[in-house]
Amino acid sequence: MPLYRSLEELDFDIAELPRVAPARRVLMADPAHFDVEYGINPHMLDETGALRRVDRSKARAQWTELRQAFERLGLAVDVVAPLVGQPDLVFCANQTLPIAADIARDGRARIVPSNMRWAERRGEVEHVVAALARHGGTVERLTTREPLEGMGDGLWHPERRLLWAGVGPRSSLAAWSEIAERFDLPVIALELVERDFYHLDTALALLAHDACLWLPEALDARARALVESCFARRIVADEHEARRLFACNATCPDGRHVLIQQGCVRTCERLRAAGFEPLELDTSEFLKSGGSVFCLKLLF
Ligand code: ARG
Repeated sequence: MPLYRSLEELDFDIAELPRVAPARRVLMADPAHFDVEYGINPHMLDETGALRRVDRSKARAQWTELRQAFERLGLAVDVVAPLVGQPDLVFCANQTLPIAADIARDGRARIVPSNMRWAERRGEVEHVVAALARHGGTVERLTTREPLEGMGDGLWHPERRLLWAGVGPRSSLAAWSEIAERFDLPVIALELVERDFYHLDTALALLAHDACLWLPEALDARARALVESCFARRIVADEHEARRLFACNATCPDGRHVLIQQGCVRTCERLRAAGFEPLELDTSEFLKSGGSVFCLKLLF
């Protein structure tokens, strides 16, 4: 299948795409070595350009609360062991793109290892691949060397066989086209245009088959038109909350509860008005590295 990049190219109706079951398992990576040791996104630096300082014990407490929140929603959490020298391992949405058995055409689940954009994070990939492979799934490597950062940029459409793919700072059109073709999968590519929103999961959260939370200005005009035509219910995040508190790095595993960074007051009001139930969690230590709720886990 080709990659879709504009509304004019869309030749299917989302409601008619095959249905897929929601993921019920969560992978999280132990934060023992989490830190800000380099600056590969603008959030990792303070106003003076210095690396932000992490409080590790606070980080562990926040991570544990997040883990418990997933468990309370009935999700089974599996923990990846920490790795010395890989301070970003904890963002375990990025190292792989898991393709569920009902999404792969032949009914066999796949694990596609990422091509991390920055050398600093390349050492995390095989570790997460091995952890996921224990749950089954065949490892399927891309032939392209162009960047791809897993579920940082690849968002599965809730309940439908469709992938939304961020293109720009971290993932390339070439890598997404290979995935679309190889798995005969419809992939809608969205171009990211703002430095602060360097992964699609910082600008767009897919909440239900017809609902999303987003910050339109993080996407180019073609991408905005695609989101507008595909989701009947669109909740616009407050700009400050999206930029500073990662409001769009939220996750909604059951179509109702939205796990989101604490203090996204306006965004939470809008979520409630749309019938969602926000569950606020504090991920302040992880915001210092440019991540929050969504990218601290991998749903598979
Ligand atoms: N420091 C990490 C990086 O820049 C944070 C990754 C957060 N992940 C995400 N999907 N937003 O790569």
